[in-house]
Amino acid sequence: MVEKDVYAYLEHRVEALRRTDKTGDERKVVDEVFDKQTLMTLYELMTAGMLESVEYPISTGKEGNVFLAKDPDGDEMALKIFRTSTSTFKRISRYIEGDPRFKGLSGSRRKVIYAWTGKEYRNLQRYYEAEVNVPEPIAHKNNCLLMEFLGENGVSAPKLKDAHMNDPDDIYEGVLAFIVDGYREARLVHGDLSEYNILLMDDEPILIDCGQAMTADFYNAAELLERDIRNVNRFFRLRGVKVTEQDEILEMVHEKEEEEE
Ligand SMILES: Nc1ncnc2c1ncn2[C@@H]1O[C@H](COP(=O)(O)OP(=O)(O)O)[C@@H](O)[C@H]1O
Ligand SMILES: [Mg+2]
Repeated sequence: MVEKDVYAYLEHRVEALRRTDKTGDERKVVDEVFDKQTLMTLYELMTAGMLESVEYPISTGKEGNVFLAKDPDGDEMALKIFRTSTSTFKRISRYIEGDPRFKGLSGSRRKVIYAWTGKEYRNLQRYYEAEVNVPEPIAHKNNCLLMEFLGENGVSAPKLKDAHMNDPDDIYEGVLAFIVDGYREARLVHGDLSEYNILLMDDEPILIDCGQAMTADFYNAAELLERDIRNVNRFFRLRGVKVTEQDEILEMVHEKEEEEE
């Protein structure tokens, strides 16, 4: 696409999204997500050859929306756009207080949200390199994050809470690997692990929504880790899986640390 046409195209796409939205609330979401600066960011991703088109919204969440997007080869991607609103800022602020990586950023709402977007990207990268099953991160700029689309023909893979599990025991093992390998190999604690942030594709669980993941040395990492374990065990216990007790999982998590020392 010719550069000067990209911005016009984006405004046109957003206009179309507004029209197809039915309720006033949904229209508000579109307006909130696609403010002028976000359009500029998408424009930059397009002229950089990272992004060709924004198709339609897959999900509208508290902090932002996820869209189906395409790259110049026509391959599907997921585009997560964080809202730069005050409410997002407030929610995020709670997580980042005391995180040295965000030092000096407080006060500037936009800067904090951009840093948060970068943090989700880097967390994904860290998990991906450690071979924890996450969507492959593709790019990030300002409040926009591009990653591998999990799904087929524009339909995203179901969340674990809605998915039919052929072999719950096997899927549980896969989810335990998010916790154990995530900690041992990526040195990360997800911190919001539940059936809402796991997608199921071809009977394989995939971990998403990694923005709040913390490094293992973070002051409340142990607390977050235990909450993640509780959430996962509660869900799988209800689905009839004979779960591994928390103490045993914690042993698996820390075993390697002792070996390394
Ligand atoms: N890479 C992806 N591929 C397909 N769908 C995705 C992808 N990432 C997110 N989604 C969809 O968007 C929803 C919200 O994404 P998530 O990262 O959990 O954001 P939040 O919970 O902060 O709104 C997910 O439940 C899923 O349905
Ligand atoms: Mg989520």
